[in-house]
Amino acid sequence: MQNEFADLQLPATVRDFQPEWGLVLGSGLGPFVEKLDITHALPFCEIAELPQSAVPGHAGRFVFAELAGKRAVIAQGRVHLYEGHTARAVTAGVRFMAAVGVSKLILTNAAGTANPDFLPGDWMMLTDHLNLTHTTPLLGGPHFFDMSEVYSQRLRMAFAKNAREPGVMLHEGVYAGLLGPQYETPAEVRMLRHLGADAIGMSTVLEAIQARALGMEIAGFSCLTNWAAGLGKRPLSHAEVLEVGLSAAGNFARLLARGLPDG
Ligand code: HPA
Repeated sequence: MQNEFADLQLPATVRDFQPEWGLVLGSGLGPFVEKLDITHALPFCEIAELPQSAVPGHAGRFVFAELAGKRAVIAQGRVHLYEGHTARAVTAGVRFMAAVGVSKLILTNAAGTANPDFLPGDWMMLTDHLNLTHTTPLLGGPHFFDMSEVYSQRLRMAFAKNAREPGVMLHEGVYAGLLGPQYETPAEVRMLRHLGADAIGMSTVLEAIQARALGMEIAGFSCLTNWAAGLGKRPLSHAEVLEVGLSAAGNFARLLARGLPDG
């Protein structure tokens, strides 16, 4: 399928930057970019082909900067299916990243933990996902795309090694991506746990499908911001998700600062 960003006219600083890595920041993780030396920032609203987000905590711009010594483009904010966008619109940012040269992509999200051993405030690296959105950005093609290793084992091994140094609690598990926008019921959480989900969220899976179809190598990280419904004592709230995301962002920054794999 056509990449609508292939012939985009970009400022010279962006065009010449040639980022190797892409990073998509989930809810509450936007301030991650504040510590970076930004080469260029491109608001989503300046790119006509990109859908715009209206959710608090999703600022909406691409930041071009060095990340652990590697050139990267960082999506500060993303759009979601539950805002009423199509799967193709939700994944436009990934196609933009491919068009500017990204070959390795880190997807992050805020998620509820459905695994009693994974605590709110911890991070989980995705080993696999359950796409429960009932849609895909590949409607129209390519068809019958292999999905046996969505989250690169090579990248997973490298990040797991970096996490072994003290300070960062990094679990590994399966992410269930749902449509939202309401949180789950306790019965749905029990069902998802039976299906093999460790973390539950409303993003990432469609971007992962699109990125793989474009030949990117992917790593995925969930910031576990809350107990999934029925597992904690308090009702779920977006404010809590943003707050825990903010306080856990530093650990993720530390993990990435330990290095991005070569090659
Ligand atoms: N469920 C779905 N999405 C989420 C959650 C959750 O518990 N927490 C943050 N995003």
